[in-house]
Amino acid sequence: MAHDWPLHPGFWTDEFPQQTNGRTSPYLFKGIIPATAAQPEDVIDGLVTMRRAHAAGTASAAKARVYLGEERHDELVETVLTADAWKDGDFVPWMQQTTGAERFSLVLNGLETVSPALAAGLGTFLSSLFDGWGVPIGGAEQAVFAGNYSGTAFGVHEGSEDAFLCHLGPGIKDFYCWPADEYVKRTGGKDPLKGDYQWLLPYGERFVMEPGDALFLPARVFHVGRQDTFSVSVAVPLYTYPERRFLRMSALPELLDEVLAEDLDNPFGDPSPMHDLTVGSAQVARRLIPLAHTALDAMRGKAESKLAEHAQDYWDGTLSNGGWEYKKDDLGRQEAAAAFHADQVAPGAVIRIPAPYQLRVTGPKTAFLRGIKADLETAALTPDLVRALNARTTMTLPDDEDLLAAIRALGTTGGIHLTTATTTKDAA
Ligand SMILES: [Fe+2]
Repeated sequence: MAHDWPLHPGFWTDEFPQQTNGRTSPYLFKGIIPATAAQPEDVIDGLVTMRRAHAAGTASAAKARVYLGEERHDELVETVLTADAWKDGDFVPWMQQTTGAERFSLVLNGLETVSPALAAGLGTFLSSLFDGWGVPIGGAEQAVFAGNYSGTAFGVHEGSEDAFLCHLGPGIKDFYCWPADEYVKRTGGKDPLKGDYQWLLPYGERFVMEPGDALFLPARVFHVGRQDTFSVSVAVPLYTYPERRFLRMSALPELLDEVLAEDLDNPFGDPSPMHDLTVGSAQVARRLIPLAHTALDAMRGKAESKLAEHAQDYWDGTLSNGGWEYKKDDLGRQEAAAAFHADQVAPGAVIRIPAPYQLRVTGPKTAFLRGIKADLETAALTPDLVRALNARTTMTLPDDEDLLAAIRALGTTGGIHLTTATTTKDAA
């Protein structure tokens, strides 16, 4: 079936659940990712950016792993990041020479932070998914599998969250899937199966992935990819974190820190008493219990507003970042922010918000852009203006000091592309 790009909301509400047995079974959607949105060269360019950052000693959220067969070789990561560059089009022989192996596997996490092209191209896919299906509270990321390996380095293994595997080519990949119960029945457990698993393949469902195809890979499905020639796939996992974990890992610990915060004027705190040796531990507990109850009561009182704030940070942070999870040390963001010169924000300068980022005004003094919450006066950011910028309209800045001040503040997020009127020189 031919598909529009971006995918139509009807794809997500009708075709997608129908083909995937209500989003529970793998299904290969043929030719839904156009080459204009994502191609292997974009991934190679992302690696070039990682190499540049490595040479400059800049921390990066994008991480590389190298595998030869099923063996992880951390010592080769340094080599891949530092060896002399390859000549155009010679990436595969360069990798073979650099790793000293005929067949290799390069896994790159967080590629959306080093490839503006893929952040935007697959951001279009993600944005339509959010529109038609929904928003995973933790956002999504891009995990790249590039290589000419014969089988995924992790062996046959279980997926932890729903994901789309977007195949960019140039080669073709065979992908095998097993429902969890089938896998357990055949192998006797849920552990990954490495080494020789040829015998298991006939029991799996086989998908032949060609460039532009995207496989829906639901959580809990066991899978492995196999190929003969070099190809690149980008996995887009959807981070639907368990709500209990969300509370345990972020919101509640922060609340606890708040209600039992140290007194900055009394950094050593109030000392606990010396306890009578003969009385034992009960006296310690007796003192702690009322303190704990007071803290828990205070947490209960603050929970509603704290959770609202946390939810908003995740929600607007993720959506303003084009659906990609917020990451510290996002090179793309840092480079864009560094290229933005606040002193060039003046009447006549031209701005735009690059795809896939969105400006989200959340209050009179707060707005989110490119995953960052910015403190600024937002009155000049009218709904029409925000809509136009989010639709990628370029805008010539008027003589309005309030608006100019807001744009200067937003530029620090790396989410504003600025071109000066006098030089037409690209400033971001
Ligand atoms: Fe996997």
